[in-house]
Amino acid sequence: MRTHFCGELNKKNLDQDVTLCGWVNRRRDHGGVIFLDIRDKKGLAQVVINPETIDTFKLAETIRNEFVLKITGKVIARDNEMINNKISTGEIEVLANHIEILNASKPIPFQLDSMETSEEVRLKYRYLDLRREEMQKRLRLRSKVTHFMRDFMDKNDFLDIETPFLTKATPEGARDYLVPSRTHEGGFFALPQSPQLFKQLLMMSGFERYYQIVKCFRDEDLRADRQPEFTQLDVETSFMNEDEITSLMENMIRGLFKDLGDIDLPNEFPTITYHNAIKLYGVDRPDMRIPLQMVDVNEIMEKVEFKVFSGPANSENGRVAALKVPGGASISRKQIDDYTKFVSIYGAKGLAYIKINDDGPSSPIIKFLGDEVTQKVIDLTGAKTGDIIFFGADKSKIVNEALGSLREKLGNDLKLFNKEWAPIWVVDFPMFDEADDGTFNAIHHPFTAPSVSTEALLDNPGKSLSRAYDLVINGSEVGGGSIRIHQSDMQKTVLKLLGIGDEEAREKFGFLLDALDYGCPPHGGIAFGLDRLVMTLSKTESIRDVIAFPKTQTAACLLTDAPSSVSKSQLKELNIKVTLPTKN
Ligand code: AMO
Ligand code: AMP
Repeated sequence: MRTHFCGELNKKNLDQDVTLCGWVNRRRDHGGVIFLDIRDKKGLAQVVINPETIDTFKLAETIRNEFVLKITGKVIARDNEMINNKISTGEIEVLANHIEILNASKPIPFQLDSMETSEEVRLKYRYLDLRREEMQKRLRLRSKVTHFMRDFMDKNDFLDIETPFLTKATPEGARDYLVPSRTHEGGFFALPQSPQLFKQLLMMSGFERYYQIVKCFRDEDLRADRQPEFTQLDVETSFMNEDEITSLMENMIRGLFKDLGDIDLPNEFPTITYHNAIKLYGVDRPDMRIPLQMVDVNEIMEKVEFKVFSGPANSENGRVAALKVPGGASISRKQIDDYTKFVSIYGAKGLAYIKINDDGPSSPIIKFLGDEVTQKVIDLTGAKTGDIIFFGADKSKIVNEALGSLREKLGNDLKLFNKEWAPIWVVDFPMFDEADDGTFNAIHHPFTAPSVSTEALLDNPGKSLSRAYDLVINGSEVGGGSIRIHQSDMQKTVLKLLGIGDEEAREKFGFLLDALDYGCPPHGGIAFGLDRLVMTLSKTESIRDVIAFPKTQTAACLLTDAPSSVSKSQLKELNIKVTLPTKN
């Protein structure tokens, strides 16, 4: 229908007759002359309609924003004072001689470029919201990312193999989305939380290198970087160890950032153990752009009279930690109160601090600590005049979460970032998380291999490490994987430690346990969160910004109104009784 794209016109097209198709971005009536900014996927072009072209002008008077038009005209140079250097087509305009209205538009419910429109309205009219330039840019970037990934995987001899969506529960730690079966009364499929078990089976089938860009479904509490359905680049390999897998995947990430963002990531990504990540940064996904570290002060607080500190310092699962912030002495009382409120979200009962002013340390707690202990803290943290030291004292978990989150908040608030991009591998995760009642949960998933023998694992499951690895970029966990268990005995042992006895194991994972007994190669893999990667690359804060049709925080689709109730006859077919009122 068109000869040119609006956004691609420039001085080279002067005097050419062109036909454009697109949306009216803005219409301006300049007393006698009508200007239309026409938008297509490549950008904007200005169209001028003079009153001399009587019919066209008459039609143009009826045209409103977001009409879809086909315009024929001549490319002419703009008058000097009309040149707009902000857009690539700013030196020219198209003098229209014919306009066809391909479709009219009602006034749209919100101004596309208005910053005030709520996200609910944008999500309800998502097809309109997606017309915005930044949304178009992000989805174009996303498409380029998946194209790059497919190309990389293909060049490295990985095979793209699809796995089922209607399947059995695959434990990744969230609740399953269930799909009732009509043909098997009372039976349910579970949508996959990941293709974990199928990709392992593909290794047992001898494919050696598999990948898939695939949807995963998890019914879990949503956050800014979580969606109930999200996309993974899912990878599995045979006969490769963790160094080989992470180094290959690192090459892909480095190439992707360079090609699509012109970003130079370091030649070799640094590595940190889980233990050190928690000790220094309080979280297992440290944002390494922020040059602040937590320092343990348990030892020097053991004997102080300030019970808030000496209590946790003497308790087995307690921690007293300090966080020095260079230049932080200027943080106001009010800001400290706000930070105290902030850490209380994580269960912290307060936020003690010492400021190092020109005339020495000042703090409401120095009188409890004494000068000697105060000096020791200053020495240990290396605090200088002008700095502040914050403290967390409680159960380790609370201190880690509170000070770890405070560290990130301070990094953002005070603009402390000392680099723009900071990837890091987190390794040596524990196998299990021990609950208060002594039961174990898998930190990665139940198919991750331990880095110790079966005997050592059984001896001390709580302290055993796994062969898992996570890739963190700028504090976001963008990928995670592991070397898998490839012997059925070890798999049964791990399932048993997780409280899954032989019978339950057989019922849930019998197919996997059988397959492990028929010549299973050593294997391992990784999955990247595609949405999180694109979100990081496009420097946006919300995962919804990089998904065409995302769900809200309560896992609803405002556009289609899903989930919704279904008819009685549908329920009857599925033998399902809903105890809440249903439609018709
Ligand atoms: P894991 O559960 O760590 O591993 O998931 C891999 C990556 O997927 C992303 N991710 C999410 N992104 C958006 N919304 C969510 N709800 C969500 N949950 C996870 C994260 C995460 O790093 N089968 C294993 C992988 C393996 O062992 O190979 C797995 O799924 O970026
Ligand atoms: P209080 O004696 O309760 O007035 O507390 C004195 C100081 O210690 C205040 O600055 C509190 O914010 C701080 N504080 C209280 N409990 C804790 C805690 N568990 N961790 C860190 N600081 C705390």
